[in-house]
Amino acid sequence: MTSTEIAPTLQAAAAAASTLPAMAHRPRRLRRTEGLRRMVREHHLTVNDLIYPVFVMTGTGQKAAISSMPGCHRYTLDLLLEEVTAAYDLGIPGIALFPLIAPDLKDNAGTESYNPEGLVPQAVRAIKQAIPNLLVFTDVALDPYSSAGHDGIVENGEILNDETVAVLVKQALCHAEAGADFVSPSDMMDGRIGAIRRALDAEGWINVGILAYSAKYASAYYGPFRDALDSAPQFGDKKTYQMDAANAQEALKEVTLDIAEGADIVMVKPALAYMDIIQRIRQHTTLPVAAYNVSGEYAMVKAAAQQGWIDEQTVVMETLTGLKRAGADVILTYFAKDVATWLQR
Ligand code: PBG
Repeated sequence: MTSTEIAPTLQAAAAAASTLPAMAHRPRRLRRTEGLRRMVREHHLTVNDLIYPVFVMTGTGQKAAISSMPGCHRYTLDLLLEEVTAAYDLGIPGIALFPLIAPDLKDNAGTESYNPEGLVPQAVRAIKQAIPNLLVFTDVALDPYSSAGHDGIVENGEILNDETVAVLVKQALCHAEAGADFVSPSDMMDGRIGAIRRALDAEGWINVGILAYSAKYASAYYGPFRDALDSAPQFGDKKTYQMDAANAQEALKEVTLDIAEGADIVMVKPALAYMDIIQRIRQHTTLPVAAYNVSGEYAMVKAAAQQGWIDEQTVVMETLTGLKRAGADVILTYFAKDVATWLQR
């Protein structure tokens, strides 16, 4: 249609509208009461959507505050069991486990990452024994175990890919043997999903799933998490393996590869600055899509709420509902217990 044709059409429409007795549509009519708003609500955040990320450390009877993540702690295993039991009792279906590894156990090859008596396998065994129905997702990556604070083996300042994948495979098998329901590779090495899937199947772990951190961006929003685990990179940054914040097509490439290699769930991380990526991936695949509401996103809300500048509960519910609207089926969030509690009221 040319512009000269549009004008008369619009005029006709305006004329027709002016003959109506009133507005045909008043969208506000459907927002009038809480019951009505509930009835026509398009997306719902539920406790079923949540995975609660938790930090474990060695020792007994201790919980250590994480200063950049107010309200979050590193727990020794005995206290972690209480924490995850509370989460389970609130109806949260799964937890993601992250370890604080002692400096003397760290090396370049992340050897401790596949020690069957290490902190993570011990924690997995204890949690699965105490609460068999709580899903346990373990993080597969070398950074908590790496003396360099990188997600892979370092040689001459470079992060080696295939050599690292061989270690990640050992780590994944070690977690599967301990009883993990899902392994969650967060390292961004190429080919790791396929290598892990093949190894799990070869060892008979056909029911151990893979939650793939598929579109994981090189992000400053991970800062507080690295404080929690004392795992900040000792040199450089993670830009040769984690994705460039400016890229969207590449996220589809990563997701496509991970799906072809056997991922059960694909993840976008961080969540908030990447909602468009969540939406694209949701449209691209029939697999469940997870979003990680990361430590920096948590810290920003906590900091502003502590100042009295925003209302924490309302902001958190709005944010996480936004992630659902964008297309996330599963949300990892440090607010999981709070959300579960708020949803019960
Ligand atoms: C490590 C890992 C990181 C996070 C989860 N797994 C940090 C990183 O990649 O440097 C970040 C989680 C968060 O910030 O909440 N592979």
